[in-house]
Amino acid sequence: MSTAPTDRLHTLMDEIRAEKPEGADAIEQFRIKYLGSKNVIKPLMAEIRNVPNEGKKAYGQLINEAKQLAQSRYDDFQAGGADTDEEAGDRPDLTAPGEPMPLGSRHPIALTMRKIISIFERIGFTVAEGPEVEDDWHNFTAMNTPEDHPARDMQDTYYIADGLPAGPRNSAMLLRTHTSSVQARTMETTKPPIRIIAPGRVYRNETISARSHAQFHQVEGLYIAEKVSFADMKATLLHYAREMYGAKTKIRLRPSYFPFTEPSAEMDIWWGLETEHDHRITKGTGWLEIMGCGMVDPAVLENCGIDSEKYTGYAFGMGAERQAMLLYNITDIRLMFENDARFLRQFASVM
Ligand code: PHE
Repeated sequence: MSTAPTDRLHTLMDEIRAEKPEGADAIEQFRIKYLGSKNVIKPLMAEIRNVPNEGKKAYGQLINEAKQLAQSRYDDFQAGGADTDEEAGDRPDLTAPGEPMPLGSRHPIALTMRKIISIFERIGFTVAEGPEVEDDWHNFTAMNTPEDHPARDMQDTYYIADGLPAGPRNSAMLLRTHTSSVQARTMETTKPPIRIIAPGRVYRNETISARSHAQFHQVEGLYIAEKVSFADMKATLLHYAREMYGAKTKIRLRPSYFPFTEPSAEMDIWWGLETEHDHRITKGTGWLEIMGCGMVDPAVLENCGIDSEKYTGYAFGMGAERQAMLLYNITDIRLMFENDARFLRQFASVM
């Protein structure tokens, strides 16, 4: 049903499509020719009178299409995106299939901490957090370790800034040496009963070797309520050891010393002496120490505003790297902080 003006309009549109003006002058010529006040589409608009009535509507639409085509080509040229064949080759092919994104994996320390957290969450502990840059009060003094206390030497501390004005609550800043600082922070702001675990990174100025590092992770636990006993603690820790290392796991508590617990203990799990490797990692004893623990010292409760006549509690703190090494057979702690993808990729399928 094509009429002469329609044909000419189609020819014109083909011409517009074929235009490849290069440079600002040529683009301006394009504008004048197709969009200027005396553009070449205009005469074709007047031709509408020669189109039979039933075709007028379609013709009008085609005119509009031609104008829009000229405008959008012009916009493209101006934006530098002219659709020339050579340039099209440089552009990304949006229809090409996507490249798969390599999936990351969880870090063995994160995997271990998640396991620990979920065991305690299932028996009613909730996660608490505190800052890694800590003040002296929460890291030491509130935890019954005042400045002149010999136990400060147990943890070689990175101090952040010397000579900060000493406030009433010793305000020297440091990198926390243990997550026990979160005990103090929680007790200050929460009324018993308190039942928290506090996972996090800690720092000590230690020589880096296959077995120790200057940064590592701990998971702290704290339970404070009325009539909490040492037996409660032992039962909870036995439960933990069996969830983590198998239902037959044995534990033993050895007397120890921490300024913030009394009595204090260190907990070992029975690892066994079946292989050469077992002998080596347990130093021939079959036992492996995995945490420190004890009954919260009444002085700590009082420092944090909790009535030590009414409440008792237990606390424990365990290292995450040590346990990650046991779980995943890692023989050098330094691997955990080097971010070597060949090491990390091995945990891709571990849940
Ligand atoms: N904070 C102690 C440490 O880092 C561990 C610990 C926590 C011991 C809680 C007793 C109670 O060695």
